[in-house]
Amino acid sequence: MTSVLSDPSPPVERPRRSATRRRYLMCRPDHFAVTYAINPWMDPAVPVDVDLAVSQWDALRRTYLELGHQVDLLEPVAGLPDMVYAANGATVVGGTVLGARFRHPERAAEAAAHLEWFRANDFSRVVEAEFVNEGEGDLLVVGDLVLAGTGFRTDPRAHGEAAAVLGRPVVPLELVDPRYYHLDTAVAVLDATTIAWLPDAFTPASQQALRERFPDALVADPVDAAVLGLNAVSDGRHVVLPAAATGLAAALTERGFTPIPVDLSELLKGGGGPKCCTLEVRA
Ligand code: ARG
Repeated sequence: MTSVLSDPSPPVERPRRSATRRRYLMCRPDHFAVTYAINPWMDPAVPVDVDLAVSQWDALRRTYLELGHQVDLLEPVAGLPDMVYAANGATVVGGTVLGARFRHPERAAEAAAHLEWFRANDFSRVVEAEFVNEGEGDLLVVGDLVLAGTGFRTDPRAHGEAAAVLGRPVVPLELVDPRYYHLDTAVAVLDATTIAWLPDAFTPASQQALRERFPDALVADPVDAAVLGLNAVSDGRHVVLPAAATGLAAALTERGFTPIPVDLSELLKGGGGPKCCTLEVRA
């Protein structure tokens, strides 16, 4: 008779993860370019291949469709090269749309295009923002909470505005590393209670706040964060993430998630990954 205690390699308990169908808004990178530098990833001297950007973006779109999600498209506008990063244009919770207000004049006009799309698509509560907020770049919905970044883009006063408009408690978090200028480059929302994150991207007080709320969070290896691995999109089970973030993919598998690697090398030149290209529309 063998004792359970003597089993040298007990099977690893991986939690069962379940996906829910999502609705995403995306914008084809037809006019993508790096003509200015508003984050350290952008270098106008490095050429971008627009055709490759479009085909990589299209592979991301098809990945969502294959996972059973709905993808709506926002019409790209010439002269707005960053519009492909649709996550920055709004935050949508329970059908309420809080529009973005961009920090940099180069992106300012994207906000109106988003507002117009939501109005045209029958969202009855579409709110124009008073303070600078860069949509889901800095406002991440986790269950009933909104994690709200500041430090580089979103004005801290926008945090109270988001709480009031969206009717959700907001957890303010301060970013300190310019490479992780948006919250969605330093935190990945995996499901209603689970995040992955890079502690070094935050002030000690914000690290403390995240540790208290998410004691079981997946702490990312800085090597994976440095390829924007945390700029990931999860449906609760499948996690679409940059292919270069191999360590993070392994850690996700370990926790019962299914990593879906995608290559968005051209869009990384603008400082974005899968999440930046994907705005979740929560009915
Ligand atoms: N070039 C864009 C900017 O700096 C990239 C935005 C990336 N989007 C994001 N959700 N992090 O504004």
